Amino acid sequence: MRELLTRMHEWMAHYMKSFYSDDAEVQRGILIKERHTGYVTANCVELAKFLHLPPHDVELAEIIGLFHDVGRFRQYSLYKTFNDADSEDHADLALKVIDELNFFTELSADDFAVVKFAIANHNEKIVAATDDARKILFAKIIRDADKLDIYRVLEPFLAQSAADQMPNFIKAKGNLVADISPDFVENFVTGEQADYRKIRTNGDRKIVRLMWIYDINFSWTMQKIVERGYIEKIVANLPMDERIAEGVRRLRAHVAEKISEVIR
Ligand SMILES: [Fe+2]
Repeated sequence: MRELLTRMHEWMAHYMKSFYSDDAEVQRGILIKERHTGYVTANCVELAKFLHLPPHDVELAEIIGLFHDVGRFRQYSLYKTFNDADSEDHADLALKVIDELNFFTELSADDFAVVKFAIANHNEKIVAATDDARKILFAKIIRDADKLDIYRVLEPFLAQSAADQMPNFIKAKGNLVADISPDFVENFVTGEQADYRKIRTNGDRKIVRLMWIYDINFSWTMQKIVERGYIEKIVANLPMDERIAEGVRRLRAHVAEKISEVIR
């Protein structure tokens, strides 16, 4: 499969460059996704090795990382946005691109099904129910690898309140203020996932990203998130009161518990 992976990497590098543009804003978006693809692919490989998966499965994780956001490029060229709600689900778009690529037929039917399931579910609120443990495992790997890198991408924006420095495609619609909406405060205190579609303020946006922590699957990923200080940088810039402090205590307890898990 190494030789197939080499061809896949070459195809992807060429494909991403084909979207380069003279328009500075378009080019900025494409480069963000190109770098993200590289980091997520590396995260997938590292996480799969941490989990002691056999070499074949480490390579499968690499393929999933490489192609998980392939739909982003067509999305941006067609709709000039990375906002799925304003355009098309970028995972659905990825599956369309993948179905057009002959080299995927070189994978076994089982492996191809795993790749498609993991990519289809990489950005869903929860992973679709299935009794196929391999599908679940690889979906969990890509979801962790992706979130870890999205924290890197968003760090400068989440760690400050100057929302006006966000590029347009990251900016929330509507009013960006430092407050947190009451329903988001409630979600944060109880540890329940906040509804992304209800984001009204910049504070809500930070809460949604912090709540992702409850959706991290592996101790490896949590360790990296802590080492890089993503959580503390967001927390340091939250408007603070007793309820938010309670949510932060709950969050930190969860982080400590996940990190202490033995390879899971
Ligand atoms: Fe991604």
